[in-house]
Amino acid sequence: QAEIYQKGLRYERPPITFDSTKWEALAKERLSAEAFGYVYGSAGKRETSDNNLAAFKKWALIPNRLVDSEFPDLSIEIFGQKYPYPIAIAPVGVQRVFHNDAEGATARAAAHEHVPYILSTASSTSIEKAAEANGNGDRWYQLYWPLNEHNDITASLLKRAKESGYRVLVVTLDTYILGWRPSDMDNGYNPFLRADEIGVEIGFSDPCFRAHFKEKHGKTVEEDVSAAAAEWARVVFPGKSHGWKDIKYLQENWDGPIVLKGIQTVADAKKAKDIGVQGIVVSNHGGRQVDGSVASLDMLPKITDAVGDSLEIIYDSGIRSGADVAKALALGAKLVLVGRPYVYGLALQGEEGVRHVLRSILGDLDLTLHLSGIESVSKSHLNKDVICMVNG
Ligand code: FNR
Repeated sequence: QAEIYQKGLRYERPPITFDSTKWEALAKERLSAEAFGYVYGSAGKRETSDNNLAAFKKWALIPNRLVDSEFPDLSIEIFGQKYPYPIAIAPVGVQRVFHNDAEGATARAAAHEHVPYILSTASSTSIEKAAEANGNGDRWYQLYWPLNEHNDITASLLKRAKESGYRVLVVTLDTYILGWRPSDMDNGYNPFLRADEIGVEIGFSDPCFRAHFKEKHGKTVEEDVSAAAAEWARVVFPGKSHGWKDIKYLQENWDGPIVLKGIQTVADAKKAKDIGVQGIVVSNHGGRQVDGSVASLDMLPKITDAVGDSLEIIYDSGIRSGADVAKALALGAKLVLVGRPYVYGLALQGEEGVRHVLRSILGDLDLTLHLSGIESVSKSHLNKDVICMVNG
């Protein structure tokens, strides 16, 4: 964080401070209209997305004085592992549309910065190659969950992830079909169908998917890349949701912690607890799925009160700064996911851009906690003395 300060003071270019709004504008200049629309775009009128950002303004940190303290300890422990920082990389698919180095750049950046990396099922880089790029980093695998009739494909993905060193399984529950996203519809853009743009690694490296495609279409995926892309999109976004009973299959086929991403109600958080998963991500997918819905942050304290003792709670949706991280921690999250901001970093400067965004958010968090008299992340966690509601 000192390094970022010094560079900033020397007015290095590109603009050295990470400001989400500024970097978003720069990414808009850099990316094609389709790719920018895909990352920036949200469902419907963007109300949920706007609600996510506005919710952070309803809460304010309350700095304490004469706390005899050094820089805060930012470390956390989650799922039996210690991490130096309370942030992780949110799963984001098809990163090749943002930068040619794609998921490899993000996985390397995460490892460099000692931040857990979550790989999406919808990635444009294979499970194995992303693992190689991540090296000794800590990596988790996010599942877009094929229907039960394709359990062989699910099992194959899980096995490959396990063998490639992914430690935690994150199951996204809110995306069995893509939301009503006007920007993508106006652009006639579905990146998952653009095998030309995203490359053929997407799904096609999976032996079970390849066998399924051959059986259904009578050709190999290489013989008809467009049909294979469309088939892969149908498998991972089937248009139909699983039920709670199906979680058992994942528990039987994954040796390690399981986290459910997309939880927004206390009732669902309680079901997650009862079913015996290890964690939940309180998230509304950055407002990309259901428009006109509640801000993810507004549900966090309610969910924490209900199940915080028995589950690890991760927060996602709307994190743009260190202060946002501090607020989510104070409201009960153990770890928070950074989403769109690092995608803008990737679009602008590849691996270095992602590293810069992570370092900036962490530097900002470090100073915010320090200047608020909060000696450690564990002390800010669920600490009602450091946060108050200011309106709403
Ligand atoms: C996503 N997100 C997402 N989530 C997931 O579980 N699997 C995925 O493949 C993707 N893909 C994806 C692509 C893009 C371009 C974006 C912006 C988001 C959702 C992501 O993990 C996270 O929930 C949101 O990004 C959080 O919202 P903010 O903070 O980015 O607004």
